[in-house]
Amino acid sequence: MIEFDGPTPPDRPLNLPGKVELRRDADEAIDALAAHLYMQALACTRSFGDFHLALSGGSTPLPLYRRLMYDPAYRDLPWKRTHLWIVDERCVPFDDPQSNFGMIRDLIVSHSDIPSQQVHPIPAMDAEPDRVYEQTLRDMLEWREKGHDRLDFVLLGMGTDGHTASLFPNSPALNASDCLMYLNTGPAVTPPDRVTMTFELINASRMIAVLVLGENKRQPLKSVMNGQDSVEDLPILGIQPLAGELHWYLDWNTCPTDID
Ligand code: 6PG
Repeated sequence: MIEFDGPTPPDRPLNLPGKVELRRDADEAIDALAAHLYMQALACTRSFGDFHLALSGGSTPLPLYRRLMYDPAYRDLPWKRTHLWIVDERCVPFDDPQSNFGMIRDLIVSHSDIPSQQVHPIPAMDAEPDRVYEQTLRDMLEWREKGHDRLDFVLLGMGTDGHTASLFPNSPALNASDCLMYLNTGPAVTPPDRVTMTFELINASRMIAVLVLGENKRQPLKSVMNGQDSVEDLPILGIQPLAGELHWYLDWNTCPTDID
């Protein structure tokens, strides 16, 4: 008999806040997420006439962004009716390799038929980028009926320190109140300074998808499952949708092997 010594599925359900979409490998997890995003885009454009999508940076979602462009299954994603937002941004020019918008522009914007006025980069090098972006968000979402004036789909990742978006452990943005965007600076922020969506904005969204892949995320994932840390120490625990849904996209390789 052939012995399979690759990752195996966890022997009990993963205790995460939200729905767990667990797949055998990264490719399958990304495929499931792409299909979910696609269905949400169709449903929202049917119901509201448009789709407000917010994407993150980091390396994990790159294959997803490519897949959305080359896979025929997603070719008719309604980009013409999509507003594209950026979850967080480093305070660098868009042509800097660290710029999230630069990456998303190169992988998605320049290969889709999304109208340029529906692409919303964070003006991270300008004065008060958080306030400016917040105003743009409010201006665009106010066209929606009350109650539907929220982001439709927010894609998040998780750092090995448990940060999500640019909400770093013990950083000022964790305590931002009454604002949708925050300029996060100071010693707790991994340089350069960041502009980030706040918990308030993310948690109000219709759908939050967290994509976490790779062995190096096992430990933080285990901490999320234990739920013992504070939001200050493990910011991703602050992702608590108000009325929307939270889905985790994971593969076997990312699952902790010693679940308590
Ligand atoms: C960013 C992010 C950030 C990211 C995590 C995970 O711009 O870096 O928005 O929150 O999702 O750091 O990054 P990796 O996917 O590279 O592990």
